[in-house]
Amino acid sequence: MSDTTEAAIDNGRRTWIAITCGAGAVGGVAVAVPFVSTFAPSERARAAGAPVQVDISGIKPGEKLTVEWRGKPVWIIRRTKEQLAALSTRDAELADPKSERKAYPIPAYAKNEWRSIKPEYFVGIGICTHLGCSPSDKFTPGAQPSLPDDWAGGFLCPCHGSTFDMAGRVYKNKPAPDNLEVPPHMYVSDTQLLIGEDKKA
Ligand code: FES
Repeated sequence: MSDTTEAAIDNGRRTWIAITCGAGAVGGVAVAVPFVSTFAPSERARAAGAPVQVDISGIKPGEKLTVEWRGKPVWIIRRTKEQLAALSTRDAELADPKSERKAYPIPAYAKNEWRSIKPEYFVGIGICTHLGCSPSDKFTPGAQPSLPDDWAGGFLCPCHGSTFDMAGRVYKNKPAPDNLEVPPHMYVSDTQLLIGEDKKA
């Protein structure tokens, strides 16, 4: 019923290209469907911010799927047990480990160590809170260029060097002032995620 939305990001320039986009006609959420013979919201509806439904059943542990919502890249990351375990080890190095800052609205379900509804899945907007670049995946722990030797896995913004952990929490003393945003979202089922809405219609 729902196609998976996929996209590829050009990390350095914030430009990114949707390869396929689709969303299921979820009851009560099927905005602007009556006049189009497709399950997907119309381009106009999508541009206006229609929720996007995503099939997450194909994401393996350690993988990331990027979808478009309101013209922004939204990351869906299925974290491994090791990546989850690492989240509790770096609080002292993070600028806002408990997501208490109020620069933008943070859904209540993201104010926890994982910053997510289900610990396994992180859903975040892949735009750096400094000047808007899209951070690069640096999931592999350990020493590597531009990162500390004890790197625990996360993201590196190539523009000015801000680093984020696997929950999108920014490290201290970096140009980016805040953690990555978490968009409103909800699980329609175990395999279907709705981005852009977080309550039953
Ligand atoms: S835009 Fe990410 S560090 Fe400047």
